[in-house]
Amino acid sequence: CRKFAPLTLEINRLKKEKDAVILTHSYVEPEIVYGVGDFKGDSYFLSLKAREAKAKMIVFAGVVFMAETAKILSPDATVVVPDRGSGCSLADSLTGDQLRKLKAAYPDAAVVCYINSTADVKAESDVCVTSGNVYDIVSALPQQRILFVPDRLMGENIRTELKRRGVAKEIITSDGTCIVHDVFDAAAVADARARFPGLKVVAHPECTPEVAAAADFVGSTGAMMKYVKTSEAPYYLMLTECGLVGRLQVETPDKHFIGGCRLCPYMKLNSLEKVRDALAAPRADQIVTLDEDTRRRAARCIDRMFELAP
Ligand code: 13P
Ligand code: SF4
Repeated sequence: CRKFAPLTLEINRLKKEKDAVILTHSYVEPEIVYGVGDFKGDSYFLSLKAREAKAKMIVFAGVVFMAETAKILSPDATVVVPDRGSGCSLADSLTGDQLRKLKAAYPDAAVVCYINSTADVKAESDVCVTSGNVYDIVSALPQQRILFVPDRLMGENIRTELKRRGVAKEIITSDGTCIVHDVFDAAAVADARARFPGLKVVAHPECTPEVAAAADFVGSTGAMMKYVKTSEAPYYLMLTECGLVGRLQVETPDKHFIGGCRLCPYMKLNSLEKVRDALAAPRADQIVTLDEDTRRRAARCIDRMFELAP
């Protein structure tokens, strides 16, 4: 679109000049994802790309915990966030100190953190997981007791899925939820099914167990996209942030999506202007810094995920 053209050109020129790569989560605005992003996808895919990156600079158009993860994995790169306010209700629900206290209460538990967590929480955890590998990794751990943080609803979904797989584990959780996914409602899903025969319902594992049970497919944003691209249905209801629906509308123009739009206020703080500013002359608040001991311990927990991920 003509409105975005000058900034898009400027950012793409700056990228070369600064030897930078731009990682974009699927929830951010399309002018960023398609106009200037080098890689677009879910948390797992973007972590892999951050780890492989050879660029001097990584601009993470997503939220702060994702940029911190990139810094943990690529410590020599300058990692910047367009907006330091782009938090996450899950990551912000638990501090490293709070996790240390929880660990003291459950000393025999394996500590598993969802990637939507701070570097301090990762540094205190045994293994990190994403929405795409959580069930496989938790199933593979030798410990019977799992302390899973910070997503209570995902923890409940793990309990259900492991029971279905016949894997016996005790799952203890902390009390965070995603403010975008915790409001989807199973009654609304039933109502949509009645109104749209043949509807396929596709949910993220940050949704409630009732919503997950009412869905045809539950998975990471990457897996949700794959499910839609490889299935045939007259209508789809996507129970996730509506940036993902935007991507699907662009990439599968013949499919029909019903339902309203739920925005993540943190992801939507990203803009082309802020990406340009972070690239051209990053302010101190846009540059991700971590103390080396925290970074090293957090890297161990993410590396364990790469070892165990299917
Ligand atoms: P994905 O890794 O599935 O993209 O999830 C990230 C996220 O923040 C979902 O709310
Ligand atoms: Fe965090 Fe939810 Fe936003 Fe994802 S959608 S970044 S989990 S607040």
